Amino acid sequence: MKLRRILKWSARVLLIALILAFLVGFIAYWRSTNDCNAPIEGDAMKAIKVCEYGVDALHLGDVTKPVPLDDQVLIKVRAASLNALDVFLIRDTWFGRLFFGLRKPRETGVGRDVAGQVEAVGKNVTQFKPGDEVFGICRGALAEYACAFERALVMKPSNVSFEEAASLPLAGLTALQGLRVGKIQPGQKVLINGATGGVGTFGVQIAKSLGAEVTAVCSTRNIDLVRSIGADHVIDYTKEDFTKSDQRYDVIFDNVCNHSFSERRRVLTPKGICVLVGMGGAGVKEREAIGRIVGNLFTAYGLSSFTDQKFAQYMTKLSKPDLILLGELMQAGKVRPVIERTYKLSDAPDAIRHFDQGHARGKLVITIGEESR
Ligand SMILES: NC(=O)c1ccc[n+]([C@@H]2O[C@H](COP(=O)([O-])OP(=O)(O)OC[C@H]3O[C@@H](n4cnc5c(N)ncnc54)[C@H](OP(=O)(O)O)[C@@H]3O)[C@@H](O)[C@H]2O)c1
Repeated sequence: MKLRRILKWSARVLLIALILAFLVGFIAYWRSTNDCNAPIEGDAMKAIKVCEYGVDALHLGDVTKPVPLDDQVLIKVRAASLNALDVFLIRDTWFGRLFFGLRKPRETGVGRDVAGQVEAVGKNVTQFKPGDEVFGICRGALAEYACAFERALVMKPSNVSFEEAASLPLAGLTALQGLRVGKIQPGQKVLINGATGGVGTFGVQIAKSLGAEVTAVCSTRNIDLVRSIGADHVIDYTKEDFTKSDQRYDVIFDNVCNHSFSERRRVLTPKGICVLVGMGGAGVKEREAIGRIVGNLFTAYGLSSFTDQKFAQYMTKLSKPDLILLGELMQAGKVRPVIERTYKLSDAPDAIRHFDQGHARGKLVITIGEESR
């Protein structure tokens, strides 16, 4: 009798919770909006906008020219580059909608990596003045103007072009910080899986500059490319599975994470480290990406605790000292961005569609100037 009453009440509570969750979800969905229909206030500029989810919704439009906050810098953008993050933010997936806006993408600007000239500074900015040439990270880089926080910008080396500087920030930081997680020592054997994307091409060069012996994993058409940026050995993944070789690596820098825990352990030295960077670039589709994200978490925080070989996951952090270091490496010629192609701002949607296929060679760069008018 008592059990039946408990079951009855549990069912009622569950039903009410479900109805409430449905109502909250329904209201949140319809309240989810963005600034796409907001009128232009003040000066206008051209920018790439995304008002609805989906790469095909990208278009060049007029938006309000941004005004810097007290600790921000207004940049006249000269170049911007694409990253996997830019695509993940606008793809139409339930996972994306959960985090970036249920009905419409909250953020309507596109692009993080930026290089350009300082146009104006907020009243608390001390390190930059109008006319300075800078590069770093902002929101809405695919535009004539963008605002960035002072802490997210550094001076552009004078012997480096705007296109080269714009290709560096996110991919360069990801490679540098990930290789640090791998605790690379000179002479160590490092394997870079996914060596020809934005992160991988910087990874190969930074690992070489740290004195490592680098093996790059790529597809057939990119063999010459990875050799040209310094890889000592190349494995063509269309012909050979690196986890079945007899080689052992001190560090696996894994941009793709398309092999199991035990397969990768097989080719790690007894105290080797596998750095779990990503899940294979922009081309990976939702179900596969979620599988790899969950797999990486399980591997890093579960399985790896029981072995001497470590599987470490990390999130790229915005770091001014690291941006300065990357600029110095580029100025010294130790790191040379691989730029597959540059596009005009009006052609940026084509660039993003190409990037979305997941086989960009190095970086895709958008140049921004008079032609975008
Ligand atoms: N941990 C973090 O905080 C963080 C930060 C930034 C980025 N990431 C992640 O890092 C990953 C790489 O980013 P990215 O900008 O370099 O991406 P990307 O530019 O799209 O490059 C992906 C590369 O993966 C290669 N690839 C695809 N399938 C492969 C396979 N089966 N085996 C080996 N290589 C394969 C492709 O080369 P081919 O054309 O030769 O196939 C392509 O060059 C992404 O998953 C991204 O989300 C992580």
